[in-house]
Amino acid sequence: MENIKKFKRDFLIKENEEAQQGAEAQAQDTEAKAEEKAPESDKVGIANPAKLKEEITKALNERIGDEYTAHFFYRNAANWCRNANYKKAAAFFEAEAAGELDHAKGIQDYLTQWNTIPAIPSVKSDQSFSGLVEIISKAYGIEMELLEKYSKNQQEFAGSHPATFNFVQKYVDLQNQAVGEYSDLLNALQLVNTENKLDLLVFEDRYFA
Ligand SMILES: [Fe+2]
Repeated sequence: MENIKKFKRDFLIKENEEAQQGAEAQAQDTEAKAEEKAPESDKVGIANPAKLKEEITKALNERIGDEYTAHFFYRNAANWCRNANYKKAAAFFEAEAAGELDHAKGIQDYLTQWNTIPAIPSVKSDQSFSGLVEIISKAYGIEMELLEKYSKNQQEFAGSHPATFNFVQKYVDLQNQAVGEYSDLLNALQLVNTENKLDLLVFEDRYFA
């Protein structure tokens, strides 16, 4: 009887030892598999880059449209001047048209830098003119309106997104310069008789040099 009890005790002890060894082996196996999966867990840790807020994206997309509108305005103005043989004015407006393309690209580069695909609006591409005075007057209006828009945008983003505030500052400066240039041309038109073709030719030769 005593021998049977001892046998049972020894059997239980052996059974417990085997169970413990099995659990340890399973734990080691799980640990090894976790190490094998480590590279995948690194992928999960890739940071998600920030995007601009919706109101900033919307405003900048609208400004892209304004810059392309200005581009086509100057493109048409250059064509009109070349056709009328205002050679210096044609070269001036050619440069203006190219500048507007750069401005539009600059905004698009800023948006993509912030992980946003620009939405380029459809814009008016055709224009007709009756004279150089009309072109200069309309150009002044376009540049002044855009100065006001960029200034408003800059104020809107001053507190919420300082990086965009700084970015828009460059465009406020550009517009400020453009408004000054067209103001000078409008003032210079006051010095001549705009009804006289020769006066206009002298004006074009002097102020579009
Ligand atoms: Fe511009």
